Amino acid sequence: MGYSRRVAVTPETRRWAEVFAARTGGDVGEGIAAILSLLGLSDLISFAGGFPDPKTFPRERAAALLAEFADGGEASAFQYAPTRGLTGPLDAVASRLGSTQGRRPDDDELLITSGAIEGLELVAKTFLDRGDLVAIEGPTYLGAIMAFRGYGADLVAVPMDENGLQVDELERTLAAGITPKLLYTIPDHQNPGGVTMAAERRELLVELARRHGFLIVEDVAYRELSFGGDALPSLWSLGPDVTVQLGTTSKTFFPGVRLGWAVGPAEISTQLVNAKQNTDQCAGALGQRLFEEYVRRGWIEEQLAQSRALYERKCERTLAALERFMPPGTRWTTPSGGFFSWLTLPARVDSADLATRAVEQGVGIVPGTLFFPDGRGADNVRLSFSMVDESQIDDGIERLAGLVAA
Ligand SMILES: Cc1ncc(COP(=O)(O)O)c(C=O)c1O
Repeated sequence: MGYSRRVAVTPETRRWAEVFAARTGGDVGEGIAAILSLLGLSDLISFAGGFPDPKTFPRERAAALLAEFADGGEASAFQYAPTRGLTGPLDAVASRLGSTQGRRPDDDELLITSGAIEGLELVAKTFLDRGDLVAIEGPTYLGAIMAFRGYGADLVAVPMDENGLQVDELERTLAAGITPKLLYTIPDHQNPGGVTMAAERRELLVELARRHGFLIVEDVAYRELSFGGDALPSLWSLGPDVTVQLGTTSKTFFPGVRLGWAVGPAEISTQLVNAKQNTDQCAGALGQRLFEEYVRRGWIEEQLAQSRALYERKCERTLAALERFMPPGTRWTTPSGGFFSWLTLPARVDSADLATRAVEQGVGIVPGTLFFPDGRGADNVRLSFSMVDESQIDDGIERLAGLVAA
């Protein structure tokens, strides 16, 4: 019987890869898995994963809230939720968007997701046919490259500098008649670049989206982790008619709940809800209720203040160590928030090679090639200072610098 286009798998062969769907590209999924596996090694001074520091996790408060839900006989935290999200948590997220971004969304503009990765998946599923063009920042978040590629999109990387996406370069691409369906950007404390998009570029980007008819997909994963607590206007607040914003609580609350949001024009949000019906049907109600209470009691602001101070300290220590130990010819970005600094290595140092040798020396880093869709980044490294133990930063950077110099 065999309905496969290619080959029937028999019990003797079991070469399952031969019957994978066409969209299952060889490199989709492997990059993130490789990074996660590095974190499993004990004794590694890891600048690899973009994980929040466990010191920020609200253990006691989460435990107290759980006990409250159980003792109070609450059912909703333990039940299935509506696909768009529970009413209370939706209201809490909408209120926060109102207070932190100056625009409270209407009910039909917002949905709760199982993290920003799911938001990316829903956007890709809703918009992308094989061969569609998506513009991304070069470099960008690996999970987004994988999500868009997973739906057969062609990717064009727009360069970045210390002020974020080079919107004038995008304008040139558009003027040449190349118009993407989507433009994906992480404007604040970008992953992996550690840079923030300048205010005037934000205005221009929204104007270009209106003029050329593409959708901006704004990922605000690190927006609330600016060291000074300040933020530039979000793209969604500047252009709610041309922007879908994807948010996450992973870096500000805790990723164990897998919780985020998507907000955009009602027509799009409604379609994202439809798409969600056959991914996970609803984001976990327990996480939604925990986050709602955490916001309502003002605890999120307390956690944010502590997290910002912690990450600022780690960042300063990392930058100071780079300054002290790195050989001439090495450059890096100076983040004003978030988790990352982006290194450019001296000529002739290959970052994949460096990453392998660094693991042998007990240091985890991610080579820059993982953040480009086209093989660039061989002279770049992403350093994440978020989870590394503060007392090990100097030692880790010194070991890395020794390898770069060698
Ligand atoms: C830019 C960016 N977007 C999204 C995510 C994933 O967010 P979530 O944990 O909500 O899926 C990350 C996590 O590393 C990220 O860096």
